[in-house]
Amino acid sequence: MIPKDPVHIVEVGPRDGLQNLCEYIETEKKINLIKRLAESGLKEIELGSFVHPKAIPQFRDIKEVVGGVISIEGVKLTTLVPNLKGAQKAFQSGIKTIIFVFSVSRSHNLSNVRRTPNESLEELKKIKELNSSYPGVVIRVDLATTFGCPFEIKIMKDDILSYVEKTGKLGIKEITLCDSVGFGNPRQVEDITTTCMKSFPEITFSAHFHNTRGMGLANALAAYESGIQSFESSIAGLGGCPFTPGSSGNIATEDMVFMFEEMGVETGVDVHSLLDISRYLKEILLGVNLESSLLRAGIPKQREIDLHS
Ligand code: COA
Ligand code: ZN
Repeated sequence: MIPKDPVHIVEVGPRDGLQNLCEYIETEKKINLIKRLAESGLKEIELGSFVHPKAIPQFRDIKEVVGGVISIEGVKLTTLVPNLKGAQKAFQSGIKTIIFVFSVSRSHNLSNVRRTPNESLEELKKIKELNSSYPGVVIRVDLATTFGCPFEIKIMKDDILSYVEKTGKLGIKEITLCDSVGFGNPRQVEDITTTCMKSFPEITFSAHFHNTRGMGLANALAAYESGIQSFESSIAGLGGCPFTPGSSGNIATEDMVFMFEEMGVETGVDVHSLLDISRYLKEILLGVNLESSLLRAGIPKQREIDLHS
C-alpha cells in the first residue's frame, strides 16, 4: 500500500535549471522567477551557486540574486557551493542553508570540481570549521552520481555508503541522493534509499532525479515508497549538468506536484501557478527544449474543476 504522507518539494530550477543554459538570464528576471515560485506555495528554493563565474557564467550575479530575494518569508532559500571559497561567500550572503556538492564517482568529481571525492571531504571539513562562526547556518550535502555516472561503469553501493558515513562523521545531518544524469531505475532507487535510511537513521535523506531516460517520476515514486519525503525538481523540467555529457532536465516540478496531488499526497504547492510559470519560461527561453509533460498536455479539464472546488 502506497503511503499518503505529505511530501516536501524543493525547487532547484534557478540553480540546476539555469546552470545549463547558454543564454544569460538577467538578474531581475531571475529574482522575478524566484518570487513567483515562492508564491506558488513552494517552501524551499535553490537560488543558484557560488561558483567561479568562468565555470558557470550564469551565476556571476548570484550575490545580487540572493540580495534580491533574501527577505522572502516562509521559504527556505539555499545556494550550492563546490568549495570553501564558495562557502565563504555563501555564509557572508546571509543564506541559512548551504548545499555542498561532491560526487561518489571519482571521475565526475574531478571533472566537476577538480578534486577527488576524498579531497572534497577535506574541503567539507574546512567548511564545517567555518560553520562554527555562522552557527545558524545548516550545511547539507548533495551526493552526486549516486545512481550512475557517465564516466564510470558502475557506482558501487559500498562507495555510496562509505561517503555517506564519512559525510555524517563531519556532522552533516542532511544528504540528498542525486541521480545527476538520470541513470537510476526504480528497483535500484528503492535498494539504495532503503539501505541508506536503515544504515544511517540519524541522517535525513532527500532525493534528486533527472528525467534523462524517462525514469524520473518512477524513481521519485520508488523513493517515496521507501520513505523519502523530500524531492528536488525543476520548473518546466529545465536542467542538466554542464560537466556531464548527455545530461538533461530534472523532473519538471509541475509534473511531480501533479503526480503526488493526483495520488492524494499533499505537496502544498499550487500546480496551476507552476504551469503559469512554465508557460512564462517557454515565452522567454526561446529555443530551449522544456521537458514538462504538463506544459505539453495541460491539466485535464475535470481535474481543473476538482482542484478549484
Ligand atoms: N567562487 C568564485 N571564484 C572561485 C571559487 C568560487 N566558489 N572557487 C575558486 N574561485 C576562483 C579563485 O579565486 C581563482 O580565481 P583567480 O583565477 O582569479 O585567482 C580561481 O577560481 C581558481 O581557484 P582554484 O582554487 O584553483 O579553484 P578550485 O580548483 O578550488 O575550484 C571550482 C574550481 C570548483 C570553483 C570550479 O571547478 C567550479 O566552480 N566548478 C563548478 C562546479 C559546479 O557548479 N558544477 C555544477 C553543479 S553540480
Ligand atoms: Zn541535477
